[in-house]
Amino acid sequence: MRIAIGADHAGVHLKAELVAFLAQGGHEVDDLGTTGDESVDYPDFGAAVGRAVADGSAEVGVCVCGTGIGISIAANKVQGVRAAVVHDVTSARMAKEHNDANVVCIGARLTGPQVAVESLDTFLSSTWQAGRHARRLEKITALEDAAAAGSLGAGRPVVGQP
Ligand code: RB5
Repeated sequence: MRIAIGADHAGVHLKAELVAFLAQGGHEVDDLGTTGDESVDYPDFGAAVGRAVADGSAEVGVCVCGTGIGISIAANKVQGVRAAVVHDVTSARMAKEHNDANVVCIGARLTGPQVAVESLDTFLSSTWQAGRHARRLEKITALEDAAAAGSLGAGRPVVGQP
């Protein structure tokens, strides 16, 4: 797969391990940085990964920061991105099966390298289940479309859908 990856200074060492794992697996990896320990701002890297996925140059994005949270929030501001923070193989699998996440985010200060690699491996080998989840993703897309049009969207929560 074509995979874009980015990290801030807190995630740079885990990123290197993930890049090595992905390259070993035969993936085409686009490393968008950062490359050193110098302090940087995670939104720059989350946005770069998000844009690579949104414009189709990457099929999947991988983001790493200290917690995975900040960089996921940034990536999710790019239209078309569904970035999910995962902490283990179960959340990694669910992020794909239920949410069809196209960017997976990991916290280097919270998740050890072996769990991170196994989580990424699980994410890449899992499949979206569609079915009832499709309607939910359509609602997320509708929120994005509303935001792009300068609106907050509308409607009340619905109970009792199949
Ligand atoms: C950087 O210190 C840290 O704030 C960042 O890596 C991340 O954890 C933010 O969500």
